[in-house]
Amino acid sequence: MSKTLQAIRGMNDILPEQTPLWRYFEGTVAGLLDGYGYRQIRMPIVEFTDLFKRSIGEVTDIVEKEMYTFEDRNGDSLTLRPEGTAACVRAVLEHGLSGGGQVQKLWYMGPMFRHERPQKGRYRQFHQIGLEVFNLDGPDIDAELIVLTWRLWKLLGIRDAVTLELNSLGTSEARGRYREALVEFLTAHLDQIDEDSQRRLKTNPLRVLDTKHPETQAVLGNAPKLADYLDEESRVHFEGLKARLDAAGIPYVINPKLVRGLDYYSKTVFEWVTDKLGAQGTVCAGGRYDGLVEQMGGKPTPGVGFAMGIERLILLLETLEQVPESIARQVDIYLCAFGEQAELAGLTLAERLRDQVPGLRLMVNAGAGSFKSQFKKADKSGALYALILGDDELAQQVVGFKPLRGQGEQQNIAWSALADHLATCVVQG
Ligand code: HAM
Repeated sequence: MSKTLQAIRGMNDILPEQTPLWRYFEGTVAGLLDGYGYRQIRMPIVEFTDLFKRSIGEVTDIVEKEMYTFEDRNGDSLTLRPEGTAACVRAVLEHGLSGGGQVQKLWYMGPMFRHERPQKGRYRQFHQIGLEVFNLDGPDIDAELIVLTWRLWKLLGIRDAVTLELNSLGTSEARGRYREALVEFLTAHLDQIDEDSQRRLKTNPLRVLDTKHPETQAVLGNAPKLADYLDEESRVHFEGLKARLDAAGIPYVINPKLVRGLDYYSKTVFEWVTDKLGAQGTVCAGGRYDGLVEQMGGKPTPGVGFAMGIERLILLLETLEQVPESIARQVDIYLCAFGEQAELAGLTLAERLRDQVPGLRLMVNAGAGSFKSQFKKADKSGALYALILGDDELAQQVVGFKPLRGQGEQQNIAWSALADHLATCVVQG
């Protein structure tokens, strides 16, 4: 008895119908980042487990419950990366990319792995595009990261559907003082907060602010506010960021409860959220992590970055019907050849056309077949035009040029004139 083959729960195939939208999305982001001078870095998908424990934090949901960790044949503990920042910092340190105060503006994309409960917009293998900037400590670069995402939302046609939430976590000293005050307050209200928050209070108290539990939320209404504990440096930094966003005309909401689920942040944190996707509404998130590089063994090096969830943004494009029509069509021309001689001539003609018309998307019929079956395949390919090559056309050195989507009559075109004709009606049209 054979069991039906299945992918792992929460890990999805991206099927041929979906890849054009993925490529459009990834291409749009890559083009945008080229325009801002960011350079791509590619890190391995697997790292030593310790890297994530030390950077993301031992008492975070990711490290405590969500990592895919295994022992390899050498007995080393390895983990499928749950995010990209840790590996990027590791690569930057390993290759000396941030030495001597060098500024690095990097981006990466690829799969990440978290053992979360799968639902719409939340998967166990998901994909991020992330940016990390090293050795710039001012609010100007925080603003640039936000400005470029704002431009991206416009390019994608989803600007009206996303909101920017901002907060400042202050320096680690300021956060330490706040943590003490919060613990004191919550300890005094211990019987009014939920069990999970009681646990977090002991391990990672700031995460209590993240709670979805209504009673705990009500208690938090009277809790000390992080903003009141901000150090002067962080306050000035945050004001500087807000002033730049105001100047750029980018709307934002200050969310004092925004603390993020990873431990490495300091000062600025932000999330772009949408209400169009249900519970998993954060499409892009990040912040500053000025202490991380040093914590990982490097020299003090300011850092800031974010990552966007590709699946969520693709879902948003689909929900808002912002999928450009042109990306669905993968083939412009379908060449049908009838008979052995025509098939041979078709092969060389097609190759010549590919030389002459850059960007041409031409599919040559394979597997022979009757008129009817080849036209059926031409139609199914989505092509705009069919080229027809039979014995008569061969004798006259022409092809039949047949519009498949009702744009005019079939006509014969000489081989010598074909490249020019295709260039005008396909590539530019
Ligand atoms: P994060 O908030 O954990 O941050 O993830 C960033 C984004 O990845 C989320 O906003 C969401 O869009 C997407 N995402 C996260 N988990 C899932 C999931 N299970 N399924 C689908 N999408 C998901 C980070 O990962 C940080 N490394 C971001 C960063 C870079 N901070 C500074 N630099």
